[in-house]
Amino acid sequence: MPNKPVPSPEGSTAYLPLSRRSLLQVLGVGGTAAALGAGLASAAHAADTPPATADEPGEQPLTLKVNGQAQTLQVDPRTTLLDALRERLHLTGTKKGCDHGQCGACTVHVNGRRVNSCLSLALMHEGDEITTIEGLGTPDRLHPMQVAFVEHDAYQCGYCTSGQIMSAVALAKEPYGASAMEIKEAMSGNICRCGAYSHILAAIQQTRKA
Ligand code: FES
Ligand code: FES
Repeated sequence: MPNKPVPSPEGSTAYLPLSRRSLLQVLGVGGTAAALGAGLASAAHAADTPPATADEPGEQPLTLKVNGQAQTLQVDPRTTLLDALRERLHLTGTKKGCDHGQCGACTVHVNGRRVNSCLSLALMHEGDEITTIEGLGTPDRLHPMQVAFVEHDAYQCGYCTSGQIMSAVALAKEPYGASAMEIKEAMSGNICRCGAYSHILAAIQQTRKA
């Protein structure tokens, strides 16, 4: 992998030669686990941090059930579900890639169905049940799809991984078969810039066989 830029004390940027493996070791986790770990860490942070309730002019109340917990917050009507999750509830496991519905990095479940959260206004989800990557598994008890992604090395940088996993889990309830072609079609809304597609496909096929 390319050298990793590291800010020096003087403010300039130095470059340290880090391999992918050593970078992951520095992070203390593997790629999917990194995405997952970030999510879990942010979930813990969310538990510690009360939702922002500042009553700004024009904001409106919103109640969601997020990862099994009721959340009440005030949001500007223009706030997307993605920004409400990331900026207001600090659930940063869900990623913002394109912010235009083109990459799938922001995929979450709304009432069990996958949704690009960047394309959906938060206020449209009053009372809805939202599941993010933080609500899928725990470090001690990973979701089978998370296990499959780890076993098949189905990630590189990990940025797309939470969206890939959320999409893949929802896919199991959709009318798609287990063939490679059908899975590719069903997952075509989730872009991986690292090109880990064959590994992602293998991970999803493993869960289909289980
Ligand atoms: S960030 Fe939502 S689809 Fe890319
Ligand atoms: S693992 Fe890097 S974008 Fe998919």
